[in-house]
Amino acid sequence: MSAPGYDPVARVFRPEALGATVRLRGWLLRTRSSGGILFLVLRDHTGVVQVTGRRDVLGDRAFDAAEHVQVEGAVAVEGTVAEDKRAPDGREVRANAISVIDPGEPFPIFADQTEEFRLDQRHLAIRSQESVAIFRVKAEVLRAFREFFDREDVLEMTPPILTGNAAEGGAEAFQFDYFGRPGYLSQTAQLYLEALLFPHERVWALTPSFRAEKSRTPRHLTEFLNLEVELAWCDFAGLLDFIERMTVSVLHAVAERRPKELRSLGRPPEELLAIRAPFERVRYAEAIDRLSRLGFPVKFGSDLGTAEERALTLESKNPLFVTHYPRELKAFYMLQSRDDPRTVEASDLLGPEGYGEIVGASCRETDIVRLKERIVQIGAPVEEYEWYLDLRRHGNVPHAGFGIGVERLLRWMLRREHIRDATPFPRTPSRLLP
Ligand code: 4AD
Ligand code: MG
Repeated sequence: MSAPGYDPVARVFRPEALGATVRLRGWLLRTRSSGGILFLVLRDHTGVVQVTGRRDVLGDRAFDAAEHVQVEGAVAVEGTVAEDKRAPDGREVRANAISVIDPGEPFPIFADQTEEFRLDQRHLAIRSQESVAIFRVKAEVLRAFREFFDREDVLEMTPPILTGNAAEGGAEAFQFDYFGRPGYLSQTAQLYLEALLFPHERVWALTPSFRAEKSRTPRHLTEFLNLEVELAWCDFAGLLDFIERMTVSVLHAVAERRPKELRSLGRPPEELLAIRAPFERVRYAEAIDRLSRLGFPVKFGSDLGTAEERALTLESKNPLFVTHYPRELKAFYMLQSRDDPRTVEASDLLGPEGYGEIVGASCRETDIVRLKERIVQIGAPVEEYEWYLDLRRHGNVPHAGFGIGVERLLRWMLRREHIRDATPFPRTPSRLLP
């Protein structure tokens, strides 16, 4: 067998003709031997396959070496594809040669360990078949978004992460020393996307957003992927239509391309394919009425927390737009509603089955006086927002945008209890390693 590093990538894990000779490289998912036969379950980036090796074929030395490879040790195999009714996909590879690349030390992860231990071992735990499925789906989600934006002629932008303003509220910004003055890790790319909209009209960006929220909830991370879009000339109805079209398009694309992974994670792809436009739209005031009828002690002005959002969609299979929130509950840049000045033209899209907010969207305030007032009201230094206010001084036009929390979307799509499952190295108030 030639040196594994120089082999063309083996692709045996796809169904190959019986009798074909194949070369594989990968890591051991499971291993056992009995009566002079070695059973290896090998994993590579294309899938999983069973390999059998006989002592009389491999020779004593090679057989003994292969027998001592640990779970997650690495091997190269040359063999023949054969039928085997007991193997997971009805086929196995009968090895003519097995070479050990790294026998590995005993793998520290096995069944029935605590969640905390697994999080400490996250750098190794991400090799599990469950993690593999989750991050394949995540990559497919990101691909589907990109394709959708291409089709809709929305241009990708690269806004900064190091910023001088705390755009979504000072209290939740990670502050750091930037050569003697305060800098903030980006909480949103929105203000930059608004600036970029004037030359490009339809823009999007995928950036990490940072929130210094101490809240330990199953839906908060301190670092998450914020996928944000900003559209010139877009009104509120157009904004909700865009979000709806995008959501359906992404869900359907992923359902069609990753059915096996979705099923293995507990989400039959048919459930995603069943989601269709239009999504129900309910005003905040009406949502408050519904919640009161359900026994929640809420009135106009109450924030909708996890429990309230959960109650609003617990029974539904489709996402729900909640619109026209009170101004005080929402960010300074949101457009005051013309028909009810207590509220803003904003909407949160709530995931079905009680999963809560997935998208935060709004038309942007174009009136510079009101915008300044709101900046003062939230106690932010107006000087630092002068550059943003300039956008209202030069070709000010109606525009709207939104941010979708990628891990929030996945938490719902993949029916995860905790959002941390949707990111390989979760950042929470108590976790910065690994
Ligand atoms: O609702 P948010 O705070 O809105 C913004 O950042 C706007 N500037 C977006 C825009 O209009 N361009 O965040 C957007 C989305 C939320 O709807 C939620 O899905 C997710 O980001 N998100 C979080 N995800 C995980 N952990 C957190 N701590 C999150 N905070 C918000
Ligand atoms: Mg929000």
